[in-house]
Amino acid sequence: MAPRDHRQADINVTAVSDSVALAKAAADRIMARIAANSDRVAICLTGGSSPKQLYALLATDAYRSQIPWQRVHWFIGDERFVPAEDPLHNMGMARRIFLDACAPAANIHPIPTDTGNPDEAARRYESELKSFHGTNELGSARPLFDVVLMGVGPDGHTASLFPDYPAIEETKRWVVGVPHAHVEPFVPRVTLTLPALNSCREMLFEVAGSEKRAILTRVLAGENLPANRARSTGETIWLVDQAALPENFRGR
Ligand code: 6PG
Repeated sequence: MAPRDHRQADINVTAVSDSVALAKAAADRIMARIAANSDRVAICLTGGSSPKQLYALLATDAYRSQIPWQRVHWFIGDERFVPAEDPLHNMGMARRIFLDACAPAANIHPIPTDTGNPDEAARRYESELKSFHGTNELGSARPLFDVVLMGVGPDGHTASLFPDYPAIEETKRWVVGVPHAHVEPFVPRVTLTLPALNSCREMLFEVAGSEKRAILTRVLAGENLPANRARSTGETIWLVDQAALPENFRGR
């Protein structure tokens, strides 16, 4: 099925048939953003299980041979505060699936989890992001990232921005520590804040599977949830497969 566009309020929902089509649609959008920027490209990855097929696809020859790896930099939107080799580690997952085989090591920018605590890790990553960006400003004229990938959790969290947690209200810091997670896995987190995540040319949510339908229904109804407050200063797209698509969006 060809991707279909629906607009609800200012949310752009692109419906695809299944998780395979979703990974391809996401990969193609990333390729278009890379092609649109002839300079250094910054892509902020996400953790969880949703992006795994996309990451595997980027490692296949069809994509791998087209990506100018030397000028693409890879960041992560949130991290579980566990050792880098722990299966729960978000950047570790991305490294195993594609980055280590494809990207120069200097272009992979993990959140450090070998520091004393999540706050210290957040400070270090914020300073790495500022140094990469070359300024402490997050103006929409020159966004921090070309693409920010996102997922949504069952409580409406995105990155590690959980409902009613102070991190969601942060306006100054780019990265903060989150001592307790609201959902599994219950390990401390480090997360980029809304000002940093939103500073991108394109924010791409990937949502697949029937277990996501309930939360997506709430998001699309405009409920005040972290996932609804994450909006690119450029374009925000929700890529959704049929199983996750709410009833009133089906067959449109
Ligand atoms: C994390 C994530 C988180 C994730 C959502 C969706 O570290 O857990 O970055 O925000 O994207 O919870 O997770 P799934 O893709 O596993 O459903």
